[in-house]
Amino acid sequence: MLIAGNWKMNTDLSDGRTLAENIASGIAEAGSRFDSVEFAVCPPFVHLQAVGTALSDAPVSLGAQDVHREDEGAYTSDVSAPMLTSVGCTYVIVGHSERRQYYDETDGEVNQKARQAREHGLVPIVCVGETLDQRKGGDAEAVVTAQLDGALDGVAVNTADDLVVAYEPVWAIGTGESASPTQAQDMHAVIRTHLRDRYGSEGADDIPLLYGGSMKPHNAADLLSKPDVDGGLIGSASLEAESFLGIAERAATVLG
Ligand code: 13P
Repeated sequence: MLIAGNWKMNTDLSDGRTLAENIASGIAEAGSRFDSVEFAVCPPFVHLQAVGTALSDAPVSLGAQDVHREDEGAYTSDVSAPMLTSVGCTYVIVGHSERRQYYDETDGEVNQKARQAREHGLVPIVCVGETLDQRKGGDAEAVVTAQLDGALDGVAVNTADDLVVAYEPVWAIGTGESASPTQAQDMHAVIRTHLRDRYGSEGADDIPLLYGGSMKPHNAADLLSKPDVDGGLIGSASLEAESFLGIAERAATVLG
């Protein structure tokens, strides 16, 4: 079970460091209770190094929120995969709906980023999810599977550790209205089947499928107890150690 925090454009350096320290001390205090839970945090680029240092003794992986398709060059403001690996990143989020929505990121660009991540040994957290209109129009599955196909074309996945997929229905992000556990499971099952077709059942069954969209401590247990929900990609509830670790508590309970 992977519990990953996407801090988005939140925290200044001091807040980010404090949040990381609080997460580290909360996990240490929990002792063996979190042994079955894997953790990752994705802070803003500028805090990656400081957060990485604050978490250096904690079992928490570092991730970034985006990556450029090229290794280097004249791309003012962008950040490359070698830069991310050099500051200790394991994961990188690609194709978040906020990137698709506000920066017109296409499936083709998401694909380039996912390939670039893999080429540099980063694990892409590929985000997919439909809008409310698409769901109401009965197109949710078609949208999500098209996004998957677009993002994963030619992405080398040799083991289940090489990829994470996050289902994040756009209508559930930041709204306080999460998908129901059944809605999440139904879409995760579609994604699982799709990944099996692409990568074969041996690998695909173990690729972590995260649910994201208003996951909080109060709804996490029901979502995480669904068979194809292997963790969460958490936005606002990851900005406080208490709620982030509260979700991890639910994950640990679900895993027994
Ligand atoms: P919220 O948890 O704030 O809804 O955000 C989810 C998300 O977008 C994580 O990537």
